[in-house]
Amino acid sequence: MAFDTVAANAAPAAHPAHSTTTDALLARQRAVLLPVQSRMLYYGDRPLAVARGEGDWLWDIEGKRYLDFFGGILTVSVGHANPDVVEATARQMRTVGHTSTLYLNEITIRVAEKLAAITPGRLQVSFFTNSGTEADEMAIMAARTYTGHRDVVSLRHAYSGRSAAMMAMTAHANWKQGGVYDGHIKQVRSPNLYRKPVGMTDEAYLDFLVDDLADFLATSTDGKIAAFMAEPIQGVGGFAVAPADYFRRIEPLVREAGGILIIDEVQTGWGRTGKHWCGIEHWGVEPDVMTFAKGIANGAPVGATVMTPEVAESVRALTLSTFGGNPVSMAQAYATIDHIERHRLWENAEAQGARLREHLEVLMSAHDFIGDVRGMGLMQGVEIVVPGTAEPDPARANAVLNAAREEGLLIGKGGRWGNVLRVAPMLNVTKALIDEGAERLSRAAARVG
Ligand SMILES: Cc1ncc(COP(=O)(O)O)c(C=O)c1O
Repeated sequence: MAFDTVAANAAPAAHPAHSTTTDALLARQRAVLLPVQSRMLYYGDRPLAVARGEGDWLWDIEGKRYLDFFGGILTVSVGHANPDVVEATARQMRTVGHTSTLYLNEITIRVAEKLAAITPGRLQVSFFTNSGTEADEMAIMAARTYTGHRDVVSLRHAYSGRSAAMMAMTAHANWKQGGVYDGHIKQVRSPNLYRKPVGMTDEAYLDFLVDDLADFLATSTDGKIAAFMAEPIQGVGGFAVAPADYFRRIEPLVREAGGILIIDEVQTGWGRTGKHWCGIEHWGVEPDVMTFAKGIANGAPVGATVMTPEVAESVRALTLSTFGGNPVSMAQAYATIDHIERHRLWENAEAQGARLREHLEVLMSAHDFIGDVRGMGLMQGVEIVVPGTAEPDPARANAVLNAAREEGLLIGKGGRWGNVLRVAPMLNVTKALIDEGAERLSRAAARVG
């Protein structure tokens, strides 16, 4: 029987099990998925079982509707089930789904051409993988082959992924397990103006960070490094924004030590920070390598490492990612980038981000348990503290997060103490929905306060 006849005649198989309550689904998950995953559901509180999503909204299987201001961890960038993206992806699935990188696929080349056009400076050559972890892995590998050095310096509070090397890069104890240690991966102090030493000016704090890095390179490495890697705004680290001159000041030290600059744009890319495509463009430095994932493809598993030609050229050994550059995920990435470009969503992120920020600052003035509001564009953090102090208050942050959910608003949290609320609406969010979300958050804060 011809394949198309089978497809036309076959009725969809009835599912042997189908759950209509969150508790029933959770029981099934607990039986078959890694236990820690169930403990992490909705940050360890009441799980949310997803039924469907559309634009800025998500519905749970019990019918409650939520305004989604976290987008699957800053990943759904242009809205759930965005019709442009769905159509392009389905079209590609009907055309050809997978061939591996042993064959030429125009859609993969088109995405790489887009990345070469969009990323700043001389970043021209891409390697595609399936996650941010792998994108960062490739960046480290290329830095080592290019420089011939091994040491990589990253920042405390960074999150780089879940492979062995990326757990070593990640600087949060709770995200490292299995005795992960790599003697060639080392962390220095991360910039966080809210957590600078008491009484220090911003200028003195920047000098302090730069001096610390210089001292670190001179004492804790052999003076030669492969790379310095950082996120312009630490995502998991609690949306801590590097000071305006930070990267300009540290770049010469990195270059002097023979290293290259790797910028991890997994959370900050694609217009998220407003005004520019890439977060690092706010800081005016040109990285040698940039990594992307999350928002690049509105939810498809795509990692991208974009390099200068000479860094790319240094990678000589065979390397392959079976699914990397897969035509379907590339079609999804292309449609997402195209959607962002046609609607100039970096401008919307700047405008709506400013509006969101105003709302959050009003909220801070109303509650003494909000110690800091920070971020850029549609990536805004709210640090929850013990009233009148700077002491982190993770329990209250959790209470606000849960109250927001009761109000039908989904946000995230992060930071070393888990006390920073992370608010990151879709890049195409409207002014009306920003106001709506802020109103829901304000009601949630009032309940907790
Ligand atoms: C900045 C950053 N880099 C890398 C990663 C790892 O990405 P993935 O989970 O896709 O492997 C993440 C994930 O949260 C991230 O936030």
